[in-house]
Amino acid sequence: MNLIDLVRHVADGLDVGVLVTNTDLRRPGPTILYANDAFLRMSGYGAADVLGQSPRMLQGAGTSREGTRQVQRALRGDGRFVGRLQNYRRTGESYLCELDIRPIYGLDGHLEAFIAFEREVVRRRGRPTEGGAGRYRAVEQSGCSNLPFLKTPIFA
Ligand SMILES: Cc1cc2nc3c(=O)[nH]c(=O)nc-3n(C[C@H](O)[C@H](O)[C@H](O)COP(=O)(O)O)c2cc1C
Repeated sequence: MNLIDLVRHVADGLDVGVLVTNTDLRRPGPTILYANDAFLRMSGYGAADVLGQSPRMLQGAGTSREGTRQVQRALRGDGRFVGRLQNYRRTGESYLCELDIRPIYGLDGHLEAFIAFEREVVRRRGRPTEGGAGRYRAVEQSGCSNLPFLKTPIFA
């Protein structure tokens, strides 16, 4: 089983977006070798639109150049990047994307590919508690308790 078949086996049904690229960091690389359905749903692209392209296709006017420079530095360094970038869907709508990019090494120690786990960052429901930086009050306590589907407490 080759690497892409192995990733496909694991990532096809995952909720998190998964992208695999080759290791060519010079433009126009890196090249997308695999994208799972969750990534395609999030970005609005079809598999045929993204395979063979660079993830740079997701960038637009609001994408931070400092952010992409950091990605470049990280990929050339230890191959690991964790951070957020402004991505754009096929429709042109922007979304904040949390990326976790990791290198994949072969048994012989060679860098074989990069894999990214990508999630859209959405604001949690509920309101921040006073003085509790980053902590959220359960929606039951913020005036939504009449909505049965919102009754599960959500904590940050
Ligand atoms: C697996 C993988 C996934 C990536 N996903 C994104 C992404 O979703 N959005 C983005 O702006 N850049 C993403 N990148 C980064 C770009 O491909 C590129 O490396 C970055 O823009 C830095 O290169 P540059 O300075 O030549 O533009 C990803 C890179 C890799 C290896």
